[in-house]
Amino acid sequence: MAPAAPLLVVLLVAAEAFAYADTDGYGRYSRLFAFGNSLTDTGNSAIFPVTAGGPFTRLPYGETYFGHPSGRASNGRLILDFLVEELKVPEPTPYLAGRTAADFVNGANFALGGATALDQAFLATKGIKPFVPISLANETSWFQNVLQLLDASDYDQRKIMAKSVFYVGEIGVNDYFVALSNNSVDLAVSLVPHIIDTIRSALTAMIAAGARTLVVTGMLPIGCEPQQLALFPGGPGDYDPTTSCITRFNVLAEHHNHMLRMMLRELRSSYGRSLTLLYADVYRPVLKAIASPALYGFGDTPLAACCGGGGGPNNFNFVAFCGTPASTTCADPSKFVSWDGIHFTEAANRFIARNMIKGLLSRAAAYIATD
Ligand SMILES: *[C@@H]1O[C@H](CO)[C@@H](O)[C@H](O)[C@H]1NC(C)=O
Ligand SMILES: *[C@@H]1O[C@H](CO)[C@@H](O)[C@H](O)[C@H]1NC(C)=O
Repeated sequence: MAPAAPLLVVLLVAAEAFAYADTDGYGRYSRLFAFGNSLTDTGNSAIFPVTAGGPFTRLPYGETYFGHPSGRASNGRLILDFLVEELKVPEPTPYLAGRTAADFVNGANFALGGATALDQAFLATKGIKPFVPISLANETSWFQNVLQLLDASDYDQRKIMAKSVFYVGEIGVNDYFVALSNNSVDLAVSLVPHIIDTIRSALTAMIAAGARTLVVTGMLPIGCEPQQLALFPGGPGDYDPTTSCITRFNVLAEHHNHMLRMMLRELRSSYGRSLTLLYADVYRPVLKAIASPALYGFGDTPLAACCGGGGGPNNFNFVAFCGTPASTTCADPSKFVSWDGIHFTEAANRFIARNMIKGLLSRAAAYIATD
């Protein structure tokens, strides 16, 4: 492997082998910075005043792995937690839980449940009101706050950033959820180029600060979400015959992913090979699990929420949302893909993370080959 091989490859390949000898102190990453929404949030929404005390701060959230609510929107760990384990970096501190530079020695997680890609002001021009007033640009400015706290010389800052992994978890689904709440796919589709531009701006800001390794997650299959399936029942022609997911919502997600990958290709070619910028696929792993649940250890109701109420094929109803008194929890969450109708179970997160890491490895290898 050439000495100039992107660090992520060095690291991931090493992690796949046996213990990695960190001889020159530059062989592994020291921290991770994360961005995103509830799929990546490890504690911010539990602190943020608008969302504090929300469902994720109550049991049964966290019951399977932590044994108590951890602020994560799952029964256990998130994709990010499995990635952190694989990369052998410390768990990043939720941004709202830290105050000082020392608090962020382990990196920072800026992801916040309900966050949108687009700013509140822009969404307002489309008649859309987000769940929480935090966008990807807000998270990027929180990142700038942490840089200020580090108070490092330009040289030292670049060194720290070069040894950090930047993980941009899925972002945009909340924008789409609100747009789709009117059952208007056209409105959601009109947001795609703006969301992709917003992700590009955030990445550009990270790269300008010295980021060299960035992993950018794509959109999940929105049409397979129990919540969406329960909200928008349709006729036979509305569903994919293999997965029974809502076709038009998955087409939207695929369009988002196509545009995202194109944007990443452009960024890569403008920065050259000093940058490792990888697309992380959530879409295909989830679809795989839903199309062939038994093959991957899931039960026979991959479109039903484990925790919630309402019964039927999706077991989703807002009046019995997971964590409310009216909700019940399935006996074995490891057999379910969806935890609460919106977020994944820990079992699904582990499955997605494993597939994502496999994909990252092969993309990183291709990256070297084609660059
Ligand atoms: C939702 O649909 C209604 C009726 O078609 C329309 O008048 C309204 O403008 C739509 N709202 C948004 C945010 O698109
Ligand atoms: C989020 O960004 C908006 C627009 O720049 C700003 O008005 C608002 O104060 C920010 N919120 C937080 C909590 O940083």
